[in-house]
Amino acid sequence: MRLIKEIDDIRAAVDEARRGGERVVLVPTMGALHRAHVLLFERAREVGDLVVATIFVNPAQFGPDEDLDAYPRRLESDIEKAGAAGVDYLFCPTPETVYSDGFSTFIEVGGLGENLCGQSRPGHFRGVATVVLKLFNMVRPDAAIFGLKDFQQFAVIKRLVRDLNMEIELVGVEIMREPDGLAVSSRNGYLNARERESASVVPASLEAASHLFTKGERSSEKLISEVKKYIEKEGSAVVDYISVCDADSLKDIDIIESRALLAIAVKIGRTRLIDNVVLEG
Ligand code: PAJ
Repeated sequence: MRLIKEIDDIRAAVDEARRGGERVVLVPTMGALHRAHVLLFERAREVGDLVVATIFVNPAQFGPDEDLDAYPRRLESDIEKAGAAGVDYLFCPTPETVYSDGFSTFIEVGGLGENLCGQSRPGHFRGVATVVLKLFNMVRPDAAIFGLKDFQQFAVIKRLVRDLNMEIELVGVEIMREPDGLAVSSRNGYLNARERESASVVPASLEAASHLFTKGERSSEKLISEVKKYIEKEGSAVVDYISVCDADSLKDIDIIESRALLAIAVKIGRTRLIDNVVLEG
C-alpha cells in the first residue's frame, strides 16, 4: 500500500490504473479505522480492481461545539489496518490541500439534508456533500462505498451524484455491530465503561420497535413511543431525535405504507450516537 498526500500524485496513480483497464473504487473515511471501515475496504475489493481509501477529518462537517479537535487521529495504526485490508492507495490530504486559501464553494443538498441529523447538526451535510464531491473530483473513482450506519449521509450522496450527473456507482454496506448490537463507531471510544453498557439500549430500542413492526404495527407514534420507553429506562441516555420517515425522501411520516426508516440519535454522557433500521414488508 502507498500513502499519498498530494492531489497530483493520487490522480497520476489512479490515471495509470485506469489506463490499464482497472476499475477504481473509493472509500472515504475520517480515519481511526475500525472493523466497519475494514468491511467497506473488503467490499471495495469485490466492486473493483484498485482500492483507494481516504483519511480526512473534514472540518467543514463539524459544528462549532462538536468534536473536531477531539476526533481520534491514529495514522500509524490506520496505515497498518488499511494495508492489511487490501487498500492500494491511502490518500491523506492536509486540511490546507483540501481547503486552499479563499475556498468559498459549498454544496447544499436540499430537503434530504434537513431532517434528522440535519436539524441537530446544521451545516453538517453541507460539509459532507462538499468534501465528498471534492474527493470524487480529486480521485475520480468509478465507484464509491459508504456505510448505511450513516443512512442519511448515503441518501444525501446518492442525491448529489444523481442531481449533478456524476458517473459514479454508489454501494451501501449494511451496519456492522458489536456483539451487544451497538453499531461500530469511532465515537464509541469516547464512552466510559458505564456509558458503554448503557449504550446497548440504542440498538435494543430499535429492535423492540422492529419487532412491533413485524407484528403489524404501522403507526409512527406507537413505534417511536416503544423506542422512547427503552431509552428512558437508561437514566444517562438523552434523546436527540427519534424519527420514522420515508426511506427515500427522509420526510417524517405518520403511518408506514412502504419502505420506512426508523432513525435515532441519542446522547450518552457527552457522546452522540446514531443508529437506524429500515422497516419494510
Ligand atoms: P467515517 O465516520 O470515518 O465513516 C466512513 C464510512 O464508514 C462511512 O461511509 C460510514 O457510514 C461507514 N461506517 C462507519 N461505521 C459503520 C458501521 N458500524 N457499519 C457500516 N458502515 C460504517 O462518514 C464519514 O467518515 C465522513 O462523513 C465522510 C463520508 C468520510 C466524509 O467526511
